[in-house]
Amino acid sequence: MEFSIKSGSPEKQRTACVTVGVFEHRKLSLAGQILDQAANGYLADILRRGDMDGKTGATLLLHNVPGVTAERVLLVGLGKEREFHDKAYRDALHAAVKALSDLGVAEAFVYLSELPVRKRNLAWNVEQAVLVAEEAAYRFEQMKSKPGEGKKAPRKLTLAVSRRGDMAEATAAAARGQAIARGMTLAKDLGNLPGNVCTPSYLADQAKALAKEAGLKVQVLERAQIEKLGMGSFLSVAKGSDEPPRFIILEHKGGDKGQKPVVLVGKGITFDSGGISLKPAAEMDEMKYDMCGAASVLGALRAVAEMKLPLNVVGLIPTCENLPSGRANKPGDVVTSLSGQTIEVLNTDAEGRLILCDALTYAERFEPAAVVDIATLTGACVIALGHVATGLLANHDGLARELIHAGDAAYDRCWQLPLWDDYQEQLKSNFADMANIGGRPAGTITAACFLSRFTEKYHWAHLDIAGTAWKSGKDKGATGRPVPLLVHFLAKRAGQV
Ligand code: BES
Ligand code: MN
Ligand code: ZN
Repeated sequence: MEFSIKSGSPEKQRTACVTVGVFEHRKLSLAGQILDQAANGYLADILRRGDMDGKTGATLLLHNVPGVTAERVLLVGLGKEREFHDKAYRDALHAAVKALSDLGVAEAFVYLSELPVRKRNLAWNVEQAVLVAEEAAYRFEQMKSKPGEGKKAPRKLTLAVSRRGDMAEATAAAARGQAIARGMTLAKDLGNLPGNVCTPSYLADQAKALAKEAGLKVQVLERAQIEKLGMGSFLSVAKGSDEPPRFIILEHKGGDKGQKPVVLVGKGITFDSGGISLKPAAEMDEMKYDMCGAASVLGALRAVAEMKLPLNVVGLIPTCENLPSGRANKPGDVVTSLSGQTIEVLNTDAEGRLILCDALTYAERFEPAAVVDIATLTGACVIALGHVATGLLANHDGLARELIHAGDAAYDRCWQLPLWDDYQEQLKSNFADMANIGGRPAGTITAACFLSRFTEKYHWAHLDIAGTAWKSGKDKGATGRPVPLLVHFLAKRAGQV
């Protein structure tokens, strides 16, 4: 979708549709009132008749409104004026873009981003308008034999700002929103692809294509090289599958040569059957999403490159399948990680930490300023935080605070859980340096405790996106999270936003 920023009166816009908000109790927004004046009270009349109550997400389409140049006027409910917060704003925008899509217009004007959203500002409103519009417009049709049927979202949206002086700020925010949205689209597309298409080698090819398009440095290690490095833990998961593993290294060199990079590590299990500790059949298809951490690293790097952030960023992706076979990990097997520490694999379904630990050790060679790993790591995280917040655990409080702040700024929130030493005891093994599971209590924390044993040389945070990377049910699909959080985190480190 294309976006532009304009200032100017709503009644004078030459467009297929001009969109304005209505608060509860039929109160028109400022732009709505201006339209209404031009229309001699036509809108107020319609509201008085009770055709539109202003509840969040309600819409009403009007044709041939007198005194108004636009072909149509779309009224969008905003809910209670005194409670107009970020969620209501996003819900109203979503409803507006859906209504415009149903209408099938090619372009429209939207007078919503100038509304006062609680605790937010114009830049936030504009960036979110872009993100919500792209979200509402997203379709995944790559695997349909006849794509392109059904309603199409507008090709172009013009976001109105009331003051000319705000144009520069709003334009920059829209550009940032578009960069984030394109990163999210890449993450969603990769996530939604089935496991038979999106294999480890496919992910590696996509990383190469991205590097070429966005000007990143890329290196892809194959099995022999991974063996030579000594990533015995990663390889123990990979060896159960006929699909060969890959280890992807991407670099955005936007900062000075001497500047220490931020390293992002993404879990890239392209299908997680559980292995010999096989998962139950119900909803197992959703384990194609077990590479969403990897996809978010690619998405974030795409955005970072487009924004030309003056920062060095490295992306590391260990990717393989987790399948049962005659060569697969067995419960009780002991493997040796790249760090030299040995691991007793008590449950082959706790494979994410087995591939991440070697990538985290590999990260040491970059002498990182900080390392953030992103992984669909534990079902327990879904129980703890549901589908709203990403789980956050860290060995450094300042880094944790940065990520919490970035998540809030991006409306892609995370919530911290404790990483106290008391939980480490649950990983005790009688046969190796540690076990790969810690029992049922605090499953998200003990998974992070496991990873923490490989991150002692740098500041590190872990994002558990098991509940936030995709939606189940009738709206099943990848969300593109936490690309917005990551991009805000990196942009802030680069001195922007
Ligand atoms: N990929 C899963 C985690 C997962 C499960 C994410 C369901 C989203 C929904 C991970 O590899 C896994 O299987 N974790 C196990 C760990 C357990 C064996 C300690 C889990 O959460 O059940
Ligand atoms: Mn698993
Ligand atoms: Zn998994």
